[in-house]
Amino acid sequence: MDQALATLYSDHIDTMLQRHRMALQEQGFDWLIIHSGLLRYEFLDDRPVAHVANPHFRTWVPLPDHAGGAVIVGVTDSAPRLVFLQPRDYWHEVPATPAEAWARHFDLRAIAASDDIVSHIADLEGRVAVISDTTAPASVLDAGEHNPQGLIAHLHWQRAVKTGYEIECMRRANAIAVRGHRAAEQAFRDGASEFDIHIAYCKACGQDTNTLPYDNIVALNEHGAILHYTARENHAPAESRAFLIDAGASYNGYAADITRTYSRADDDFAALIALMDELQLQICADATAGTDYVSLHRQTHDRLGLLLEDQGLVKCSAEAAVAQGYTRAFFPHGLGHYIGTQVHDVGGHQANIGGDEQPPPPDHPFLRLTRELEAGAVCTIEPGLYIIDMLLEPYARHADLDWAAIDRLRPYGGIRIEDDIHVTSNGVENLTRDQFAAY
Ligand code: GLY
Ligand code: MN
Ligand code: MN
Repeated sequence: MDQALATLYSDHIDTMLQRHRMALQEQGFDWLIIHSGLLRYEFLDDRPVAHVANPHFRTWVPLPDHAGGAVIVGVTDSAPRLVFLQPRDYWHEVPATPAEAWARHFDLRAIAASDDIVSHIADLEGRVAVISDTTAPASVLDAGEHNPQGLIAHLHWQRAVKTGYEIECMRRANAIAVRGHRAAEQAFRDGASEFDIHIAYCKACGQDTNTLPYDNIVALNEHGAILHYTARENHAPAESRAFLIDAGASYNGYAADITRTYSRADDDFAALIALMDELQLQICADATAGTDYVSLHRQTHDRLGLLLEDQGLVKCSAEAAVAQGYTRAFFPHGLGHYIGTQVHDVGGHQANIGGDEQPPPPDHPFLRLTRELEAGAVCTIEPGLYIIDMLLEPYARHADLDWAAIDRLRPYGGIRIEDDIHVTSNGVENLTRDQFAAY
């Protein structure tokens, strides 16, 4: 960890301690054990499932794939403990003792077996909370109240405002991902298959399925209309017209989540991409502190209605396109979500620190973020426009839609443009576009 990041990390730990101690105090706990989780194996097999540590653990320490460890925080003023597992094992790499600057903030305790954690929690007095999945050793699960809702709601609410360290990690994750996006675009222009584009992306990022924050969506032509397309064909199509790539990167366990869409030719689809890009930028500019994200999502539909009308995909007015549900058929997912150590970060539906829910409106059930944006929030802005026949089917005989125009667009799949933005006290920092501009 370089000096600049170590300084930010030091402030991050201060904030983490402050937030956690406030939450513990308010919920009447004396200690919190955050267990990273243990390795799991595939059913009837000796193959481990790729391990991703408990997200609460990941917000404390830059050990995103650590298994068998724990962070232990007391309500009073002692250094947090970091129990980390160093098994005696010659089959696998054994984690090194954390020696970087960040580790100095912890009372480090190495254990050789996951059950040995018992000797580092035996002295915890008072009321103990445990945040973990169910793989944690019995001594941990039995040490206190497991995943108390009030405590978790409190911590999740606070996670909506990122620390400077977290934002810098996401800047760096975006920088890595943008290298991949540049390489992927080049591979598309060279006529590569989806699989080869994916490999070009991974190579440029130096990350693969073990480290990427989510499975890359690398979609040529009609595949762009399958929202979570991850099949990745080995053979390039005879005509590679359009390319949608939704791919991220990780840095110290923090994610980037970026989508770009390209057309091979300078054609109508390229013009439509440019219009969607303009629309996306307008929404990014409007995502300022104090903005209600549901309103921003609805505003996106209004703008999309205008675009559909202008481009002749609908024959009705923009208002009617929204009112009749046509914009939802073309853009059926949410505008975006919080992002952090989890790609879809927590707390997006919370109404308050107590954990009351603020569900998405019934006509937009997939919207993951219903809160007002605060300075320090990091979220995605990812409008889309797709030809998804299943969603257009209910309108099959409606004269309001221009079916010839829809048929012309279908072979291109769809468009999504996704940036990660940081809401600041005086505007918006676009973590993604800043990196595209620099690279
Ligand atoms: N890549 C997942 C998402 O955009 O939410
Ligand atoms: Mn996203
Ligand atoms: Mn995405």
